[in-house]
Amino acid sequence: MLYVSLLTSKEIQAFITKVFKEKWDSLKISAALGKSFSEEERRAIMDYIPLVKKFREKFDFQEFLLCDKLALEQSTAYDISKWKAKLWPSSGCVHDLCCGMGGDSFFIPNSLELTGIDMSEERLQMYAYNMNAFQKRANVLQADVRNLSGITADYFSIDPARRKSESENQRQFENLTPTLSEILNLAKKYRGGMIKLPPGYPIDEIPLDAEIIYLGSKQDCRECLILLGELVQNPGKIRTVILTKNDTFEFISTSKRPDFEKEQNLEEGTLKKYLAEPCPLFVRSRIFTQFARERNATILSKGIAYLSCDEPIHHIGFSSFEILDSVPLGTSAVKAMLKKHGIGKLTLKKRGVEIIPEEEIKRLKPKGKNEGVLFYTRIAGEKTALLTKRISGSNAHEC
Ligand SMILES: C[S@@+](CC[C@H](N)C(=O)[O-])C[C@H]1O[C@@H](n2cnc3c(N)ncnc32)[C@H](O)[C@@H]1O
Repeated sequence: MLYVSLLTSKEIQAFITKVFKEKWDSLKISAALGKSFSEEERRAIMDYIPLVKKFREKFDFQEFLLCDKLALEQSTAYDISKWKAKLWPSSGCVHDLCCGMGGDSFFIPNSLELTGIDMSEERLQMYAYNMNAFQKRANVLQADVRNLSGITADYFSIDPARRKSESENQRQFENLTPTLSEILNLAKKYRGGMIKLPPGYPIDEIPLDAEIIYLGSKQDCRECLILLGELVQNPGKIRTVILTKNDTFEFISTSKRPDFEKEQNLEEGTLKKYLAEPCPLFVRSRIFTQFARERNATILSKGIAYLSCDEPIHHIGFSSFEILDSVPLGTSAVKAMLKKHGIGKLTLKKRGVEIIPEEEIKRLKPKGKNEGVLFYTRIAGEKTALLTKRISGSNAHEC
């Protein structure tokens, strides 16, 4: 019997429901487990319990779902998955290639005929169970997606696996299985498709007529999504999508690749009245360069994504700061600047300078009743400390 299938038993699910309802601690759980379950079942339950809260949050779903730790980590969360569901046409057949536990399938419109395909028997078992829990119809097929024969569909979605070493070195994208070139090859069989890639995937390997979408929250770029064929809405362009709890903000590059890449080299300029910090998603998609041009903002040093401008930028994609003072970077000069402005409460941000902010704040020992945000960065290549004040509401969305 597969490990995950143990968790489908009524007795085990009733036990887990009780654990959560009555908020048992681990001591009580172990004592109760010993009385009623086999060793194999006990291990499965103990592995599963820490995942329950996580999958409930990740999929905004309160029923039982089948997963293990890795399948859950690799799965697509509900906010991203729901947004992507809007990209599908209203009818046709879809293959969810490398479907895993089903994160990318849970919200695909019911009007589409869906098949989940994965080479792992265990993942397919999770997928089938979970689709049923979500009350969705889907076929399942155990196969290597690189060698599919005898089955066709109109569209596909693929979320390739990433090998473990990827977390040690985020740039080892050759560890994707299937690789991007294998995926582009199998894409030829479909009218359109979407490929989920890690956010930092090298853009020059992506076909120029595809649409690239960077998706995430203000704090984090979570996915690089490639649209191909009939699913493309903005050929050659780059879209940035910020998902918040209640809203979605979308920004599309005005130019197409490769022009968009050429336009990204912003001019270096002097320090002006305000500093704007693009959110990580805007930096990843490079859309901040388009905003900089539209607002006559410049960068302070090549390759560093801080903008210098005469007016604050009030926009969801940026945080804005008023410049109070600046000194060449050095502990005593920075300490003197903080003292002059009575700064006792400090946030330290950095780009282009290697320091550990928490340790540097301890070294600076700020004293005073005022609050400030210190930037360690470069101006025309020279390391500089900028003392600033955050402009409240600066990232409220501009109309
Ligand atoms: C990142 S996970 C998919 C997660 C899924 N999209 C979700 O949201 O739950 C990748 C999956 O690809 C499967 N896989 C990797 N290489 C494959 C191949 N060549 N053919 C079929 N499945 C493959 C793995 O078994 C794994 O389940």
